Amino acid sequence: MVNVKDGIIVIDFGGQYAHLIRRRVREMGVRCELEKFDVEYEEIKNSGARGIILSGGPSSVVGRNPAFLGFDVRKLGVPILGVCYGHQYIAEHFGGKTVTGKAGEYGSSEVEVMKKNVLFQNLPSRFSAWFSHADRVETIPRGFVRIARSEKDENSAFANDRLRIYTVQFHPEVSQTSFGKRLLHNFVFKVCGCQSHGSREDVISEIVQDIRQKVGDSRAICAVSGGVDSTTAALLTKMAIGDRLSCVFVNHGLLRKHEEEDVLRLLRENLGIKVEYVDASVRFLEALKGISDPEEKRLRIGENFATVFEEFSRQQPGTEWLVQGTLYPDVVESTTPYPGSSRIKSHHNVAGLPKKLGLKVLEPLRDMYKDEVRKIALKLGIPRNFAYRHPFPGPGLAVRVIGEVTPVKLNICREAGYIFERELVSSGAYRKLWQAFAFVGDDRVVGVAGDNRRHGYMVTLRAVKSEDGMTASYAKLPWSLLDKVSREVTNTLPDVSMVCYSLSNKPPSTIEPQ
Ligand code: XMP
Repeated sequence: MVNVKDGIIVIDFGGQYAHLIRRRVREMGVRCELEKFDVEYEEIKNSGARGIILSGGPSSVVGRNPAFLGFDVRKLGVPILGVCYGHQYIAEHFGGKTVTGKAGEYGSSEVEVMKKNVLFQNLPSRFSAWFSHADRVETIPRGFVRIARSEKDENSAFANDRLRIYTVQFHPEVSQTSFGKRLLHNFVFKVCGCQSHGSREDVISEIVQDIRQKVGDSRAICAVSGGVDSTTAALLTKMAIGDRLSCVFVNHGLLRKHEEEDVLRLLRENLGIKVEYVDASVRFLEALKGISDPEEKRLRIGENFATVFEEFSRQQPGTEWLVQGTLYPDVVESTTPYPGSSRIKSHHNVAGLPKKLGLKVLEPLRDMYKDEVRKIALKLGIPRNFAYRHPFPGPGLAVRVIGEVTPVKLNICREAGYIFERELVSSGAYRKLWQAFAFVGDDRVVGVAGDNRRHGYMVTLRAVKSEDGMTASYAKLPWSLLDKVSREVTNTLPDVSMVCYSLSNKPPSTIEPQ
């Protein structure tokens, strides 16, 4: 039975950000759980929740097979906040009208508050909010009043104070909505009267305890990459089970320049983690030969990781668990939890692991976001420059080489990325970015070097700002810096004849090109 005494239940309609709503509420020190929309009425009724938030979701209330709750929300008798799909759901449920618009509203729009309301207390009368919707509420249900509109949507928020039901078309949970946290705060405390239990200071001991309980007397192996996630997962597991943890660092031949030396030094010398180094680069690169489909590449990498781990675990008798540093955004983009929601890409450490693995998977950070993990990492003594190193995907440079991974393209991607990163670090821009890298595809352009024709590759630089990797905006880097990197790339890499800069946000792009 779910228990959120004095807290909130988020009803998950399958939206990308449903889990983020839970995080925001928990950050306020309030109990919060996520429940799928097919949850039983009794479950919610007996949970002790003081309020319900209906999340966004991929289906359409006016389309085929919309996601619906199996009961009338009014019966719960607690305040409700509808977000995006939840906003349209409430409109339909109470007799309003939702239509599918000709053009949707994606990204930032300005919201104008039309009527004073508890939801908008201490918010300015205009603020920018993040939208992601095709449907919109055309007619507000009777008994409700419109409280905000946006440039493209007359009915961006409506409310019924007597029933304590509030809805917003935009996403207050994402960082791009200014004052979004304040709005949620108003709902949680002012409308629902929830109680805060303070911040979760003891999160480290909770995780360690959980690992200890799960692993029992058996052994675990951990695949470390030197990234903050797997390193933190390994340190927490080491705290829980000591020497019954064995770590392995696999070189899949898709690493950044100097990565293996840097990572092994960090793990062995700085953190005292015993780690075995396995050079499996030939095997991985062989498996990728002739493969250009991005999902196929990811799956093959996943399969090869699994085989290497299996071999490694056989050398450690009694091993039952494989520890991974999977974070929540990896999970949400890799799974298709509900009909209508789509898999964005298979992050290798989630969907690519075949069943044949024969080990149980332990993911102590599965519920967390990067910034939360970084805080834990610092507390555990991971040096700041590593804790704040840009994320690097498990499949490595394979997702930054579009099409087949050939030695020439791989080298360009590695060297150009190195030059870019070095310049960002020396200019001080690196730490303001979520990620920055170079990618390369099969497009070739004619160039001229000296008096000779150069039919070289086109390299794209991409730098983004983000809070959690779920959404991102391209960084407006100074021209002088981009210019310097561009020159250096074409001067030092004879196979490159053009350098571009990516000007796309996520959405509609993703951060990695594949
Ligand atoms: P996308 O490209 O989906 O990336 O916008 C979001 C964040 O996830 C990282 N990423 C991965 N991390 N395994 C990982 O461990 C993967 O397969 C993977 N694919 C993407 C990406 O670098 C970004 O930070």
